[in-house]
Amino acid sequence: MTTPWWRHAAIYQIYVRSFADGDGDGTGDLAGVRARLPYLRELGVDALWFNPWYTSPMADAGYDVADYRDIDPLFGTLAEAEALITEAHGHGLRVLVDLVPNHCSDQHVWFQQALAAGPGSPERERFWFVPGKGVDGQLPPNDWNSYFGGPAWTRITEADGTPGPWYLHMFAPEQPDLNWEHPEVREEFEDVLRFWLDRGVDGFRIDVAHGLAKAPGLPDVGPDPDITDLPYQDCAPVHDIYRSWRKLLDTYDGERVFVGEVWLPSPEQFARYLRPDELHSAFNFDFLCCAWDALALRGVVDSTFAAHAPVQAPPTWVLSNHDTIRHVTRYGREDTSFDMGDKRLLDASDPVLGRRRGRAAALLTLALPGGVYVYQGDELGLPEVQDLPDALLQDPTFVRSGGIDRGRDGCRVPLPWKTTGTSLGFSAGDDTASAAAAPWLPQPAGWSALSVQAQEADPDSVLALYRTGLALRRELLVGLPESLTWVDAGPEVLVFDRGEGFRCVVNLGERPYELPAGATVLLASGELSGGVVPQDTTVWITR
Ligand code: GLC
Repeated sequence: MTTPWWRHAAIYQIYVRSFADGDGDGTGDLAGVRARLPYLRELGVDALWFNPWYTSPMADAGYDVADYRDIDPLFGTLAEAEALITEAHGHGLRVLVDLVPNHCSDQHVWFQQALAAGPGSPERERFWFVPGKGVDGQLPPNDWNSYFGGPAWTRITEADGTPGPWYLHMFAPEQPDLNWEHPEVREEFEDVLRFWLDRGVDGFRIDVAHGLAKAPGLPDVGPDPDITDLPYQDCAPVHDIYRSWRKLLDTYDGERVFVGEVWLPSPEQFARYLRPDELHSAFNFDFLCCAWDALALRGVVDSTFAAHAPVQAPPTWVLSNHDTIRHVTRYGREDTSFDMGDKRLLDASDPVLGRRRGRAAALLTLALPGGVYVYQGDELGLPEVQDLPDALLQDPTFVRSGGIDRGRDGCRVPLPWKTTGTSLGFSAGDDTASAAAAPWLPQPAGWSALSVQAQEADPDSVLALYRTGLALRRELLVGLPESLTWVDAGPEVLVFDRGEGFRCVVNLGERPYELPAGATVLLASGELSGGVVPQDTTVWITR
């Protein structure tokens, strides 16, 4: 029996607004993606995960969904999405869509109905409308903070002008949390799952998968909360939701899957989402957050296997996504780790060092057993754009944190496709006389050299490394058991074997590492001097 595809898939994340713009308005869209499907096939990935493409006022770049069954006009139409799914399949690429069940948009018909229906109405029970504390209810119902900064509650004003209750929003005020204790919320999302499954999607990435259920009574967290026991995270009933979703999913043919965005402090909590009757896999944020340090990385790899083994889920490996600082920039810093709560967006980074380590990290992730995620632009070695002008920043975290957190726009800058043109080929027709609109975020000077066109002409480019790495991975590694054997090489070098003949060497230390005599080099992230692996270099060899 062959292993199911999702246990070893290479999944490419498409942030639609920044991938490719087919209609020349400066924002990426489905037409742009459809035109680039051959590029994705050639890259050698197995599946595509699309960030939310649904109708949305875009208060949080589409994570505020107003209609789960339609496409935002900025990106295209439902008919185009259907065509895209079919065409992707034609290229041998599976399609995962982003499901956002924790909250919807404040423009969603349910929230609008809830506001209009008034106090005590059944329409309000689909959300968390709660009277405030203090005299006249002027204080929020509890002490929870939004992940985007500020209180997690906003007070409404009733139609007659009187101050009303507060509603819960763990993210922006435009993203009211849904009440998952309400049967209609459950029914609605099962229907949304069917809607997209019936259109052929191969699975879902579940946004904030750990957050849907809330603790009874919405208790205060207090001044010094236990982060493994928060009343808005990892509450037990969340698992019932996924069990019932899984039953639904399994009625469809063709190995469809759930991938969870599960940010939790303990591996034990995390693994519970991956029990055989819940989600199939989840992003490995411990690995993404880990410093570029051999012992730390080995520790995370080991704890990843230890967490996944009891539930028999495949590990996954991810370096960057649309919420984090691009790894090329992180790895060029003095502190190479990532912390969601403390992004240190402006810390200085050595671009040469970051690029070198980024290449080495790429081959490490591609060699590890399990699934791997490639965030658009990883394959071009794009850095974080750290100098976007304040006036152009769009991420709500910037404003909500009072400008302290510069937000996530720096990893969302439109891709450079060509060496020339006003948007480096991002927008169709950008080198014609009737030049296309400027991209929604400006691309830095110097990105021409990082464009797909420039890199396709260079056999040593990051793009070439990814293409060869993904092809070799498919050829040599995908059929192997989901395990590795460490070979001891001291505290600064990671060496592991897979199968009979494959070895991966990552040298993170200053001391050059000598390859075993007779080793054949399959692929290296940087130049080798003879049989010696220099610092910040990964090599794949056959033993
Ligand atoms: C997830 C998404 C992020 C979004 C948030 C709220 O963390 O990845 O982009 O802002 O959920 O939906």
